[in-house]
Amino acid sequence: MNLKGRDFLTLKDFTPEEIDGLLKLAAELKDKKKKGIPVDTLRGKNVALIFEKTSTRTRCSFEVAAHDLGMGTTYLDPQGSQIGKKESIKDTARVLAGMYEGIEYRGFGQEIVEELAKYSKVPVWNGLTNEYHPTQMLADMLTIQEEFGYLKGIRLVYMGDARYNMGNSLMIASAKMGMHFTACAPKKYFPNAELVAECEAYAKESGATITLTEDVEAATKDADVIYTDVWVSMGEPDAVWEERIHDLTPYRVTKEAMGNAKPTAIFLHCLPSFHDLKTKIGKEMGERFHLTEMEVTDEVFESEQSRVFEEAENRMHTIKAVMAATLGA
Ligand code: CP
Ligand code: NVA
Repeated sequence: MNLKGRDFLTLKDFTPEEIDGLLKLAAELKDKKKKGIPVDTLRGKNVALIFEKTSTRTRCSFEVAAHDLGMGTTYLDPQGSQIGKKESIKDTARVLAGMYEGIEYRGFGQEIVEELAKYSKVPVWNGLTNEYHPTQMLADMLTIQEEFGYLKGIRLVYMGDARYNMGNSLMIASAKMGMHFTACAPKKYFPNAELVAECEAYAKESGATITLTEDVEAATKDADVIYTDVWVSMGEPDAVWEERIHDLTPYRVTKEAMGNAKPTAIFLHCLPSFHDLKTKIGKEMGERFHLTEMEVTDEVFESEQSRVFEEAENRMHTIKAVMAATLGA
């Protein structure tokens, strides 16, 4: 696998072999980190981390991974730079590429990260856009692989708003890697037809299947992985909460849904999660709409079947693999 100089914008741009190579590299880097064997082969390099939306996992993963690899980082927060306000993405790309060996971007439309990559002579990594969250996919697949030993044939069910970054990306990742993907949601939350068609083509090659259904019982039957995400994503207006709660409450991940899956099934969530009222937004929405939990019950989140914190840790190891591979460590 030679990914040196490549951008990492969506898994659509990568072959199953390349994705597998990144997962292998991540597992190797994880193993070395656990054994205390340093891998600082990118010493002397620097990366810029642009965050137009907030983050805990992605930012910390890029910073820790870069540090472990021997690199310096600069964090550009949602307010603290000229990007978009006084300087175009095209100019920003050319400025940063002159100082840094790689650029991470988290923000809004996918076209922004694509524009950045177009005008940057150094690799650009997508740390989440409205449409895709590819680094999250590597962490999710590594977690599934660690649990089951393989990806091909795994039945993954995504419950909730399947039209956004997580639903889209899980469908792409599953289709590429030969997994059986089910989006379980009301019809209006299904991924768009064009992307489904693209994924159907990947699925043909890999042996994956794609199912879109409104039926929770049929979807969760014999699942290996049940996955969900927040019902309202970053950047969406508060006004959509009421409709989302109304539409998606039947698609909450509950003990019954988990009970319908295989006994060996695991629960995954990209996080952060509204599984209780211990957050500002969770509390506010809970009080307004008389809820104690949203996309997943606290019982499932805290259960033996939940692998959400292993998954969160894997963000760091997989992001390290992406930087190492594209910067040529
Ligand atoms: N899962 C994820 O991307 O988390 P952050 O928003 O905290 O980076
Ligand atoms: N769909 C969520 C994912 C967060 C990691 C969002 O975009 O806010």
